[in-house]
Amino acid sequence: MLRDLIVKNRSCRRFYQEVGVEGQVLRELVDLARLSASAGNIQPLKFILSCESQKNALIFPHLAWAGYLEDWPGPCEGERPPAYIIILGDTEKSKSFGCDHGIAAQSILLGAVERGLAGCIIGLVQREGLRKALDIPSRYEILLVLAIGKPKETVVLETVGHGGDIKYWRSSDGIHHVPKRPLDDIILD
Ligand SMILES: Cc1cc2nc3c(=O)[nH]c(=O)nc-3n(C[C@H](O)[C@H](O)[C@H](O)COP(=O)(O)O)c2cc1C
Repeated sequence: MLRDLIVKNRSCRRFYQEVGVEGQVLRELVDLARLSASAGNIQPLKFILSCESQKNALIFPHLAWAGYLEDWPGPCEGERPPAYIIILGDTEKSKSFGCDHGIAAQSILLGAVERGLAGCIIGLVQREGLRKALDIPSRYEILLVLAIGKPKETVVLETVGHGGDIKYWRSSDGIHHVPKRPLDDIILD
């Protein structure tokens, strides 16, 4: 059921790095994005795929992980993503990309979860560094990076408490906790 898939689709930041994701799988995930909604049906998004350790190593240093976990610098060697999909906006097709890349990211991640994989949307990207590292032409705006792989962490959903704290946190057993606002708080009468 779609709800189960959405509940399972939690941002995952630690992976079995040694378990690769094949390029063909990444292509099939991008195909889900290709079939998704696009404002004006312009379809201005382009995608860079990476599933080889050398290319992955060029991408990783330009990503910021879990800002609320102040003592955690991000996944260590051995727990880094074995694959990435970088979502670009083609400025020759459009000057603004609306929420196309968000929709694409969700389609890709739901497809990944359906296959037993997990992922994380990374919006905090050192864009110019990544552009140089991968030699991405200036025509393409770097919108999001999706980290993808076999999950090595447990993530649980919770309800935001009366204090209203929305910060995710990690307990001493390594479980990642994500508070979500109650339904009645987000639907206006
Ligand atoms: C547009 C967007 C940008 C994000 N950027 C980052 C990021 O730079 N680094 C990171 O670790 N997580 C990032 N995330 C993941 C969020 O932190 C995550 O969605 C949030 O903590 C809720 O957890 P959940 O995805 O499991 O519901 C981003 C999510 C979205 C939607």
